[in-house]
Amino acid sequence: MDNQNSWLAKLGVRHPIFAAPMAGGPSTPELVATVSRAGGLGFLGAGYWSADQTRDAIRRVRKLTEAPFGVNVFIPETPARDDPQRSVSTMKAWLRNWADEPGLAAEIDALQPEFPSRASFEAQMEVILEERVPVISFTFGCPDPQVIARWKEGGASIIGTATTPEEAVQLEQAGCDAIVAQGYEAGGHRGTFLPMDETRLIGTMALVPQVVDRVRVPVVAAGGIMDGRGILAALALGASAVQMGTRFLVAEESGTHPAYKHAILSWRDRGTRLTRSFSGRFARGIRNAFMDALDHAVDAKEIEIPPYPLQNTLTQPIRRQAQQQNDAERMSLWAGQGYPLARPMPALAVVQELLEELERVKRSLSL
Ligand SMILES: Cc1cc2nc3c(=O)[nH]c(=O)nc-3n(C[C@H](O)[C@H](O)[C@H](O)COP(=O)(O)O)c2cc1C
Repeated sequence: MDNQNSWLAKLGVRHPIFAAPMAGGPSTPELVATVSRAGGLGFLGAGYWSADQTRDAIRRVRKLTEAPFGVNVFIPETPARDDPQRSVSTMKAWLRNWADEPGLAAEIDALQPEFPSRASFEAQMEVILEERVPVISFTFGCPDPQVIARWKEGGASIIGTATTPEEAVQLEQAGCDAIVAQGYEAGGHRGTFLPMDETRLIGTMALVPQVVDRVRVPVVAAGGIMDGRGILAALALGASAVQMGTRFLVAEESGTHPAYKHAILSWRDRGTRLTRSFSGRFARGIRNAFMDALDHAVDAKEIEIPPYPLQNTLTQPIRRQAQQQNDAERMSLWAGQGYPLARPMPALAVVQELLEELERVKRSLSL
């Protein structure tokens, strides 16, 4: 606990509550600034942004608050060794059935998805370092120790994402100042970067104490934490803070599409599943028609999904049209297993409620 307090105090963060970075729209500068101003730690999800978009968002947060905040990036994937062209062409043909306008089918046909260039990632990192963002977190990989050492030169605290104890150990050895331990319950993409047996996914309750026992740096628990009960449980397991995504997805300040918010709040019994259908990388979201149809076709061995981020590029026109038409059945509805506990409210009220619940549960347990 001393370790926890000193780490957060050094960051200038008063409460052990991080609003998860949520790339693709939900993590607006307003959401990030509100959580940070309330004494938690807000994160921009910069994974899909260019260097310029990243700079703009950082400056917008700074206009709203002087409180510390974080920026999260995606470590670029190493391109697959097999040529993905065959799976790209068959996927284009399959996706055409979901394009209900000829223009959209032609747009999908014309796509030439590519692995992101190292150069664009490096340009984005230069901006984040130039802007002296106090906390940098990353997912989908583990950079070399020299790279992390360079990121730390300006004083930033570096946080990596692990889904197994082995990944946490590798991140600590590479020089990370803290580790996000992301359990099976978590909404959005899994941060997994070491080869993984998909029958061995570890839940937050089992993962956090194992990571705490294996590393010396502070651990941030993520996955399925929705209220004060969950926060206290994570702290009891040895976490220094929690990173909550789904709870903040329906906050007033989040940029989540209204039809997506509506699905979170009203599709209570659909449940979530891990799927590669939207992006090519495993991510957890609320089940919908698109996910069910593609996962079914994959299970029936009718089709293969191209690797991330190629599939992400291929499904983009359909997801964009779904947004225009308010059709949540074709959007990626990333959410954690706890999503039925989400309620729409301003982000400041979320943080205040979480802190009150945390105190209440603490008191009730000491009876
Ligand atoms: C919509 C959405 C987008 C996400 N995007 C990112 C991201 O860009 N970077 C990242 O490290 N984690 C991302 N995550 C995962 C979160 O960091 C965190 O692990 C997860 O939200 C915790 O589980 P919970 O949703 O049950 O709280 C995302 C999660 C959601 C729900």
